[in-house]
Amino acid sequence: MGRLDGKVAVVTGATGGIGEASVRLFAAEGARVLAADVEDERGRRLEEALKGRVLYRHTDVSKEEDVRDAVKAAVDNWGRLDIMFNNAGIVGAVGPIEEVKVEDFDRTLRVNLGGAFLGIKHAADSAASLSWVAHYTSGAPSSG
Ligand SMILES: NC(=O)c1ccc[n+]([C@@H]2O[C@H](COP(=O)([O-])OP(=O)(O)OC[C@H]3O[C@@H](n4cnc5c(N)ncnc54)[C@H](O)[C@@H]3O)[C@@H](O)[C@H]2O)c1
Repeated sequence: MGRLDGKVAVVTGATGGIGEASVRLFAAEGARVLAADVEDERGRRLEEALKGRVLYRHTDVSKEEDVRDAVKAAVDNWGRLDIMFNNAGIVGAVGPIEEVKVEDFDRTLRVNLGGAFLGIKHAADSAASLSWVAHYTSGAPSSG
C-alpha cells in the first residue's frame, strides 16, 4: 500500500529535476499526478513512462488560464485534488543589478512568485479535498 493511494496531485515544473523526481515518487506511492510544464517533449515521455498514473499538460505557470486548466484537468480526470506542488521556477534575472533588464525581473516574478500565487488560487478554488500545498522556488543570486 502506497502512502498516497487515492490521492491526486498537481506538480508544476514537472519535467525538470525536482519536479520529475516528485512526479515519479508520488506515482510510486499511489497518487495520480497531473504533470504541468512547458517542456512538451519531456512531458509526453513522462506521461508515457507512467501511463495511467500521470497526465501531462502544457502549462506556463505565469499564465492564469494555463494553471486553471491544469488544475481543472486533474479534477475532471480523477474527481479531486489533494496536493498542489508549486515547484516550477527559473533562475531568472541575475545581477549585477545595474545590468538587469526590467523585463527579465518582471518575468522572474511572474514565474517564481506569480506561478505559486496562481497555483494556490486555482487549487483552492476547485478542490474541497485539497490538504497539502507546497512551494519550492528561489530568488536568483546576484553578483558584483
Ligand atoms: N536545485 C536546487 O538546488 C534548488 C534550490 C533551491 C530552490 N530550487 C527551486 O526548486 C524548483 C525546481 O528546481 P530544479 O533544480 O528541479 O529546476 P529545473 O530547472 O531542473 O526544473 C524546473 C522546471 O520548471 C519548468 N519551468 C520553467 N519555467 C516554467 C513555467 N513558466 N511554467 C511551467 N514550468 C516551468 C522547467 O521546464 C523545468 O522542468 C525551482 O523552483 C527552483 O528555483 C532549486
